[in-house]
Parts: sequence; structure tokens; C-alpha cells
Amino acid sequence: MDKKTVLTGITTTGTPHIGNYLGAIKPAIEMSQTGEYNNCYFLADFHALIKCHDPERVAQSTREIAATWLALGLDTDKATFYRQTDIPEITELTWILTCMCSKGLMNRAHAYKASVDANRDAGSSDLDDGITMGLFSYPILMAADILMFNADLIPVGKDQIQHIEMARDMAGRFNHTYENLFTLPEAVVDEQTQLIPGLDGRKMSKSYDNTIPLFASADELYKLIKQIKTDTREPGEPKDADNSTIFQLYNCFANENEAAAMRQQFENGIGWGDAKKELFEFLDAKLSAPRARYNELMNDLGEVEEVLQKGAEKAREITVPLMDKARIAAGIRPLTYVAEAKTEVKKKKEKSAEEIARAEEGRRRGILMQLKPMLEQVEQADDKAAAAQSVIAEKTAQVEGLKKKQKQKAQNELDLLKEELAAYL
Ligand code: TRP
Repeated sequence: MDKKTVLTGITTTGTPHIGNYLGAIKPAIEMSQTGEYNNCYFLADFHALIKCHDPERVAQSTREIAATWLALGLDTDKATFYRQTDIPEITELTWILTCMCSKGLMNRAHAYKASVDANRDAGSSDLDDGITMGLFSYPILMAADILMFNADLIPVGKDQIQHIEMARDMAGRFNHTYENLFTLPEAVVDEQTQLIPGLDGRKMSKSYDNTIPLFASADELYKLIKQIKTDTREPGEPKDADNSTIFQLYNCFANENEAAAMRQQFENGIGWGDAKKELFEFLDAKLSAPRARYNELMNDLGEVEEVLQKGAEKAREITVPLMDKARIAAGIRPLTYVAEAKTEVKKKKEKSAEEIARAEEGRRRGILMQLKPMLEQVEQADDKAAAAQSVIAEKTAQVEGLKKKQKQKAQNELDLLKEELAAYL
């Protein structure tokens, strides 16, 4: 069995934070280390343009996210790591899929509907106010990201499940209309990694402005941790670990023993200040090595760029031939394509003698079925030789009276008839 392909991308609009790390990057790297899958991980920089029109921010985020994957130890021999915009086939497929995708499907996309709802709530007379075609049709670009690699499994957050369903829909439509080229992908949602809390206790997310940058300096990290919301319980009062953002973050990085020890400290009434200090020291110890590597890479972006170029080359070994097939399936072909295709088919047949024999046998059987009444006529005759002669004469006369194409067909029948009746002739 071929390995399944796991694929996921991160939009390059922000600085990677602890939520991105635990929710997406860490599990993806771990998956690539098992050797059980083909892994495709990429920087979704065309997706960035949907939400962000600040070129410096897009460019800087792309640098940061690229360096982050590498600093965390992604082995690019075990995974294909690339930048979306280095793969022109993705954009090409986007158009073909755009022509396969009904507008109604896009009308139902969450991101678009949320923007329409926001306009409605704001009392706007134009419900599409401020909505670009990029936002509207973004699930199509995402479908192309996925289908271009025939990916099977797509690890994503819950908010992305709908987009994977839409990608399935588009793949099915293409396969049905043209040719069965695309794998129907499946979303993989890890409930566990959905629960990483941010500074205010809500899910850590750029849009809540409650994130902890993964590679914040030690000073910054401590400053942010000190902002984590706590309740008014005094030092010495037992504290509920499970309802504490401090404990939950600690728990995300801890092994069982470490988590149990921290839980004990909460029960023993550790003060919030001390708990924050412990969390800081613990995270800082875990993150300082990759942080140093990250800073090194950010100071040597040429090296990162080179890794991405190699990744693009590897990725295009998959996308170029598949896009060739998709184009041809849709009718976008060299003018000479039909002729070439015929010789290709012929060549293929020439290769397999067994296939030719089987086809020939089928052809013979077809003709014999038509000749059956004549053959029976001979079999039942008293003078079989005379009957055979007359049947052949009849068929020969028929062949002579026919025009080119039909003549050939009848001639084939006559040849076979002679073969079958050879014993009597
Ligand atoms: N849209 C995804 C997000 O915002 C990022 C993304 C783009 C993606 N293309 C993808 C994820 C393809 C998985 C597969 O999180």
C-alpha cells in the first residue's frame, strides 16, 4: 500500500505563537517523524493576501513561519516543505476548480457568511461591503492546495472542516466531469490541541489578541506570562488547576510527572506570582534551544530560502505531472494532442501480448456469434461439404457487393467462416 499523504498549511499573516506550535506545527513534525506518511507542509502566502494588504507584514510573517518550522526540527528529508507561491500549478488548478465550483457552495462558506453577517449587524446597506473575491472564493484556493498533492489527510482546526468538505466536493465534480484524477481529502481534527488557552483564558488566537509568540525573548515571555488572568485567591489558598490558564499552558508542555507535581503545588496553595514564575522558567527552558536556532535562521535567511527552493523542486515533482493530466483532462491540450494520444494508446497495447490476444479472442467470439446460423446450417446439412461451399459462395458474393468499410467487416467474417469450415472445403 502506498503511504497516505498528510498535508497542512499555515497562512503567513502573523508571528507564530504557542497555539500554532502545539495545535499544528508540533503534531505535524511528530507525524513526519513516524515515517508512516508522505508529509506536505507549506507556507500559505497567497492565503495571506486575503486578509492582509500590508506587504511588509506578509513578507515578515513568511520569514518567521519558515524559520519556525526549521527551528523546531522539521526534517526536510522526511517532509516536503515549501512555499505555496513557488508552486504555480496550485494557482493554475485554482482556476480549473473555480470553473467546477458552484457559486452557491461559496455562498455557504463560513468566512464569507461571517463577513456578510458583520455587515448586516453594522446596518450596512451593502451586505458585501469590503468583501473581496479573494475572501469569497478562498475555499477554492485551499482546495487546490490540497488536491494538487492528492492529499488524504488534512490536520486542521475545527473552523476549517467545512473547507475540506468543499475540497471533496470540487474533487468529486472534477473527477465526474473529466477524469478520476483527484483524491477526496479528509479533515483530521485533534480535539486535544483545540484547547490551548491564551492570556485571557479564551482559545489562543491572533484574532483575540491573546497570544504568546513562540520565540518571544525571555524578558518578553515573562512579561506576557505575568499578564495571564487569575482569580483573587491568596497565596496559601488551594487553587483549581483545571480552571487555570497557567496550569493548562504548563500542562501542554509537561510530561505526566511534571503535570502531577504542578497540580500538587496548586492544591498546596502556590501563590499566583510564584505559579507564573514557575511557568515562565519551565517554558523558557523548553523553548530556549529552538529560540536560539530560530534567531540564527532569522539572521541567515539565505539558508532558509534555499531550503524552500529545494522543497519547491520536490513538491513540483508531484504537481507538474498531475497538473499536466488535469489540463489535458479538461481539454487544455497541445494542438497535436489527439494524434499523440493515439500512438500512446497503441504503444501501450503493443507492450502487452496477452492483452492483444485477449482482445483478438473477444473479436473472434463476436464474429462467430453472427456467423452462428450459417455454421449451424452446415452442421445440420446431410452433405456438409456442399453446404459449406454454398455458404462461402453466398458470403463471398455479399463481400463483393459491399463498399469499403462494410466490405472489410464482411471480409473478416468470410475469413473466419473459411477457417471454421476448413474441414469441409
Ligand atoms: N486556511 C487555513 C487556515 O487558515 C490555512 C490553509 C491554507 C490550509 N491552505 C490549506 C490548511 C490547506 C490545510 C490545507 O488555517
